[in-house]
Amino acid sequence: MNATVQALHIKEVQQNGYTVIKNVNNAEVTRKLLTTVLEIRKKRWSIAKEKGYPARLNGCVFGLQNESLFLVQTMFSHPITTPIVTKLLNDSWYKAIAADRPNFISRNGIRAQSSAKDGLFMHIDSFIPGTGKRPWLLQVFMVLEDQDESNGTILVVPKSHLSDEYATPDSLKDAIPLCPKAGDIIIWDGRLWHGTTPNLEDKSRLVLASGFSCWFIKPKFDLPSALPDSIYQQLTDDEKVIMGFASPTFSDEFDPRYTEDTHNARAGYDVFPQHAPSFY
Ligand SMILES: [Fe+2]
Repeated sequence: MNATVQALHIKEVQQNGYTVIKNVNNAEVTRKLLTTVLEIRKKRWSIAKEKGYPARLNGCVFGLQNESLFLVQTMFSHPITTPIVTKLLNDSWYKAIAADRPNFISRNGIRAQSSAKDGLFMHIDSFIPGTGKRPWLLQVFMVLEDQDESNGTILVVPKSHLSDEYATPDSLKDAIPLCPKAGDIIIWDGRLWHGTTPNLEDKSRLVLASGFSCWFIKPKFDLPSALPDSIYQQLTDDEKVIMGFASPTFSDEFDPRYTEDTHNARAGYDVFPQHAPSFY
């Protein structure tokens, strides 16, 4: 993607709260992503059944970053989306890492999800609304199966990310269906009012999804703790940063990672552990 097109998508996120990038992942990549997700989900569901865990709604499966390096590379080192997310979420005062490399983090790892039979009510993902020009949470959805109005497509209210209000059920009347196709990628500001149409026949319409946030937002999952060392050893520096290894929560001021340089918690690649915590 050239710089002009990239700037256009960034502007769309800033002005409208979202952008749809058409035909990003080719058919072969999309098929491989879908197959990988389905294989992991099958394995997970069989374990859940065996142990009596409740099945997740909407065909949702979390923690894919712990299962597949391919999914990590696709979502955290994507040639189109990662530079866009870096430009929108990077903290410009994060001096331990070069300005053009990611210093944001994954909020919830990588998951796959479909859509609910009754549809998803209108809501925001950013927890609090706001009016500022800087987002603190972005969603990246890689579409694996075509969406239309009958199978629970994503609904958005353009420009609502700057409304400074939570979404109400009434906002549904202003929502537009996105109906993306397999291979498209949607990026939206977490403040955007969004939901889904009902998935009338409960058809699969999987997306590979990740939330990314500024490094100082508390993540949903403790990704470094859960990551297998076999995957950690194959990550790039950028991917380790996105996993949260450069902005750890220090135990106290005697934590060996806590130095003159890292007292503001914006650490560099030098705090990466030799092994992921799971190794020990
Ligand atoms: Fe949401």
